[in-house]
Amino acid sequence: MSATKNLNIGMIGYGFMGRAHSNAWRKVTNFFDVPYRPVLKAACARDEAKLKAFADTWGYESTETDWRKLVARRDIDAIDICVPNDLHLEIAVAAAKAGKMILCEKPLARNTAEGLQMVKAVEKAGVLNTVWYNYRRVPAVTLAKNLVDQGRLGKIFHYRANFLQDWTISPDLPQGGTGLWRLDVKAAGSGVTGDLLAHCIDTAIWINGPVESVSAMTETFIKKRKHTLTGKVEAVGIDDACAFLARFRNGSLAIFESTRYARGHKAKYTFEINGEKASIAWDLHDLHRLQYFDHADDSVVRGWRNIHVSDGDQPYMNKWWVPGLQIGYEHSFVHQVADFLQAAAKGESAGPTFRDALETTRVCDAVLASAASGKWVTLK
Ligand SMILES: NC(=O)c1ccc[n+]([C@@H]2O[C@H](COP(=O)([O-])OP(=O)(O)OC[C@H]3O[C@@H](n4cnc5c(N)ncnc54)[C@H](O)[C@@H]3O)[C@@H](O)[C@H]2O)c1
Repeated sequence: MSATKNLNIGMIGYGFMGRAHSNAWRKVTNFFDVPYRPVLKAACARDEAKLKAFADTWGYESTETDWRKLVARRDIDAIDICVPNDLHLEIAVAAAKAGKMILCEKPLARNTAEGLQMVKAVEKAGVLNTVWYNYRRVPAVTLAKNLVDQGRLGKIFHYRANFLQDWTISPDLPQGGTGLWRLDVKAAGSGVTGDLLAHCIDTAIWINGPVESVSAMTETFIKKRKHTLTGKVEAVGIDDACAFLARFRNGSLAIFESTRYARGHKAKYTFEINGEKASIAWDLHDLHRLQYFDHADDSVVRGWRNIHVSDGDQPYMNKWWVPGLQIGYEHSFVHQVADFLQAAAKGESAGPTFRDALETTRVCDAVLASAASGKWVTLK
């Protein structure tokens, strides 16, 4: 299948994700046989000069400084939402009403109530949608999912995940505004729970099925920070660290931890799954490798295998180089774009859809509710 039809992209936000997605839209047709050719039609952000520089760097045909104007444009087919979490709801609802396809960054929303409105909006409008939980499409993570689905691990007993960072330890770091909106609860919705654990929860639900109940604790180590936008010292409303226990519907027990106070760790996302027959483990810092232990191996050579996921029969890898050569972080976004375009040609949304991602937001809300009450919370 070769790209015969153009798909005009309207990108909102030129920060970290604006760049990661622009790269993916540009690269996808060079490596994947996709039914649409993405056209970088327009980029949108509020600072005209910076926006122009971004548009020139990445090859956007035009710019808009008001996202409402972008959403209203008839020459835009898909809206890519790469802005802070407090803007996801309003933009997604407007884009759905305008009949656009929507690709929204994670977390879907600041909370379940907002997320539900977004799900209703896309389902009512019948527009294709996806949420950028991109770690699903790291080949080693996709392989982990495939191994579990094939039954190679047998019954799952344990799921263990961490997402550790250390960038907010200084009390002098302000909250709010460019680059620091993640520390402002009004913009972010929550701290590490919605920002980092959301990734761990999405991967876990995808591989291990629904979460049944959670018991959590959170802490805000720095209680007050200067707010960049107001200039005043204000209370910090986010969780700096969160740890929770979970029971999955399949009977497995899980433990999740995330913090921005783990000195020495920048983005240490790891998970390990222990089953009756085998175990697997993955580490974002070595993202092209999957650790695999198979109890069926002959005992004299039994041990953890270090699988270098680069062979053509491993997920996505036949589209890249030759066996033995690995790919990186940015490729997970290219894979999501490729899957989105393939699904779109069939009139389907690529997962995780807004509805799938709402499940992760529901778990995040249950985690925060449990931390607040000190009690187990059951997900209905
Ligand atoms: N999938 C991932 O791994 C991943 C990684 C990082 C961030 N994210 C998510 O992506 C989203 C953006 O995060 P980021 O790290 O790119 O943030 P960022 O701060 O780097 O960029 C945010 C962008 O939004 C723009 N913006 C803010 N308000 C705007 C408005 N009213 N109109 C138009 N543009 C506006 C800013 O100018 C900036 O370009 C968040 O939802 C975040 O949770 C996901």
